[in-house]
Amino acid sequence: MADTKQHDLVVIGGGPGGYVAAIRAAQLGMNVACVEQEPTLGGTCLRIGCIPSKCLLEDSERYAEARLHLAEHGVRVGEVELDLPTMIQRKDRVVQTNSKGVEALFKKNNVTRYTGHGRIAGNGRVRIEGKDAATELQAKHIILATGSRAASLPSFPVDGTHVITSTEALSLQEVPRRLVVIGAGYIGMEMSSIWSRLGSEVTVLEYFDRILIGLDEEMSAEAQRLFARQGMDIQLGVRVTGVRIEGNECVVEREGAEPIRCDRVLMAVGRQPNTQDLGLEAAGVQVDKKGRIEVDDHFATTVPGIYAIGDVIRGPMLAHKAEEEGIACAEYLGTGYGHVNYDVIPGVVYTNPEIAGVGKTEEQLIQAGVKYKKGVFPFRANGRARTLGQVDGKVKVLADADTDRILGVHILGPRAGDLIAEAVAAMAFGATSEDLARVCHAHPTLPEALKEAAMAVAGRAIHF
Ligand code: NAI
Repeated sequence: MADTKQHDLVVIGGGPGGYVAAIRAAQLGMNVACVEQEPTLGGTCLRIGCIPSKCLLEDSERYAEARLHLAEHGVRVGEVELDLPTMIQRKDRVVQTNSKGVEALFKKNNVTRYTGHGRIAGNGRVRIEGKDAATELQAKHIILATGSRAASLPSFPVDGTHVITSTEALSLQEVPRRLVVIGAGYIGMEMSSIWSRLGSEVTVLEYFDRILIGLDEEMSAEAQRLFARQGMDIQLGVRVTGVRIEGNECVVEREGAEPIRCDRVLMAVGRQPNTQDLGLEAAGVQVDKKGRIEVDDHFATTVPGIYAIGDVIRGPMLAHKAEEEGIACAEYLGTGYGHVNYDVIPGVVYTNPEIAGVGKTEEQLIQAGVKYKKGVFPFRANGRARTLGQVDGKVKVLADADTDRILGVHILGPRAGDLIAEAVAAMAFGATSEDLARVCHAHPTLPEALKEAAMAVAGRAIHF
C-alpha cells in the first residue's frame, strides 16, 4: 500500500510554469508539492532549452567576435581557437547552478518535491511512478504543468546521433562540418546561429516562404538578409520528404531538387504538448485536436480541481508565458483573483542581432483593418549602437491612428530582448506613442532608439 500524503496543491511538472506556481502558492500559505520526473528541477527551459541555448549563443558569439570583429576595435588577438569541451562544460555548470537555485527556493518556501512521473489517479489523487512511487498524493487542487517536447516528422526519425533535436544540438562534442536545419522558427534560427558561428556550414530548409513566421514580417525579412550575410544558406519554400543515413552521412531528400548531403540533421519543426500518460482521459480532462488541455480563463480544466498552465494549454510556448500563468493560477486558487495580460507577452529570438516583438505585427493590423501610424528608427542613427559597432537593425513602433495608443513594438538589433521590456511595460500601462516619446532616456543608450521610434510616429524623430 502506498503511503498517502495530503497537500493543498500538487503541481505536476517542475519547469518555469510548474515551479513558479508552486512557489507562489506556497507564499500564499498553501501546503504545496511538486512532482518532477527528472532528477533536476527547471524543466526544458532550464535544463535543455532557454538557459543552455543562451550560454552557447553567448559563447559562440564571443568566439565569432574574437575571430572576426575584435580587430576593428583595435584589439589584436593571436590565433583564435575554439575549445568546445570548455564551452559545453560552462553551459552544464550554469544549468546546474540554476537548477540548484530552484531546489533552494523550494526548500525556502517549504515546497515538497517528489521525484517520478506523476499521473492523475482520480478524485484529487496523484500517483507517482519512479523514485517516490511509494507515495500517493492527495490534494484539493492539481496543476498540470508538464510542458512540451520537440515535434518530429515520421520520415525523419530522430536517432539522437545523425538526426537530432535541440537537446542533442546543445551538447554536441564536435562541430559538424555540414549541418542541415529543418525549420526556420525560433529554435532553428538560434541553433543555426550557434553552429554556423562555431564553423559548421549551415543550410536551413523552411517549408514556408519566410523565416520566423509570427514575427513582424519587415523584421524577419531584414533578419534573414543579415543571417545570409553571416553565411547561413537559408532556403525557403522547401518541402523535405525524408532522410537516409549512408555510412556516416545523412542524405536529406526534398521535393523538386537534389538531395542534400550533410553530417547532421537538426529537426526544429515545432513542439508538441506533453499530455499523454497523465491519466487525463480516465479523469475526464478534455484535450483539443492539437493535444492541448482545454482550460477556461482561470486555467480550470473540464474536471473540477484540476488546472493546467504553460505549454500544455493554448497560446505561445514560451517560458515567461508559463510563469505568468503559474503565478495567476496560484493566485486564483489562493485569493480568488489572478490575471495574465495576453496582449503584452513579448517574444525574443536570441540571434545576432536579436529580434524582439510585443503586441500586434503590422500584418495583423492590416488584416484586422485597424488604422495605424508607424514610427521607425534605425540603429545606425543611434550613438550607442555606433560605439558598440552594432548598427544593423531598427525599432518600429505601431500606434493606433486615432488614439495613439501603442499597438505593437518590434525591434531587430543589439540587445533587442532587453530593450523590448520598456515597450512591454509601456503597453501594459496603456501608453500612447507620445507618452513614450516624452520619457527622458539616458544618453547615449540603446533605448534611445525606442524613444526616437516613438517620436517618429508623429514625424518628429530628431536624429533621423
Ligand atoms: P516554430 O513553430 O517556431 O518553427 C518551426 C518551423 O518549422 C516553422 O517555420 C515551420 O514552417 C517549419 N516546418 C515545419 N515542418 C516543416 C517541414 N516539414 N519542412 C520544413 N520546415 C518545416 O518551432 P520551433 O522553432 O521548433 O520552436 C518551438 C517552440 O519553442 C516555439 O513555440 C517557440 O516559441 C519556443 N521557443 C522559444 C524560444 C525563445 O523564446 N527564444 C527559443 C526556442 C524555442
